[in-house]
Amino acid sequence: MKLEQARIINLPKVEDPRGNLTFIEESKHIPFDIKRVYYLYDVPGGESRGGHANTKTAQLIIAVSGSFDVIVDNGLMKQRFHLNRSYFGLYIPTYLWRELDNFSSSSVCLVLASDFYSPDDYIRDYNEFLKVVRCDSQSTFS
Ligand code: TYD
Repeated sequence: MKLEQARIINLPKVEDPRGNLTFIEESKHIPFDIKRVYYLYDVPGGESRGGHANTKTAQLIIAVSGSFDVIVDNGLMKQRFHLNRSYFGLYIPTYLWRELDNFSSSSVCLVLASDFYSPDDYIRDYNEFLKVVRCDSQSTFS
């Protein structure tokens, strides 16, 4: 998987003196249909989340409140994204390892996912991830 396939999507923002508004329509502003929404909150300072790759599910990660970092890793290279705007979404396709850290206090991480939760969808062992992507890279990396 090419690392550049993980990218920031600039979501629509309706600016208003009463407060700003952002909306997301499936397959229109993001490249998948939304089957699941979950969010991380009350993350203690210094904690990290993620630490896995998904084999079937694409995701969009948004810092709806506060900020945090997402480190995306394809087994060869890593890229750190700092999310600190409610109208930025980080699109992460399948077969990319991700870790989330550097959470600001009271931050909320909203995740839109293309599929329902299933433990089978996860690679949680980094060495296993490396085996899978490096094996795959022999035929598909360019
Ligand atoms: P986990 O994948 O470890 O969270 P993260 O990657 O965000 O740090 O999930 C923590 C627990 O929550 C784990 O037992 C699985 C469960 N879970 C669900 O039941 N449904 C879900 O949609 C998600 C994302 C997790």
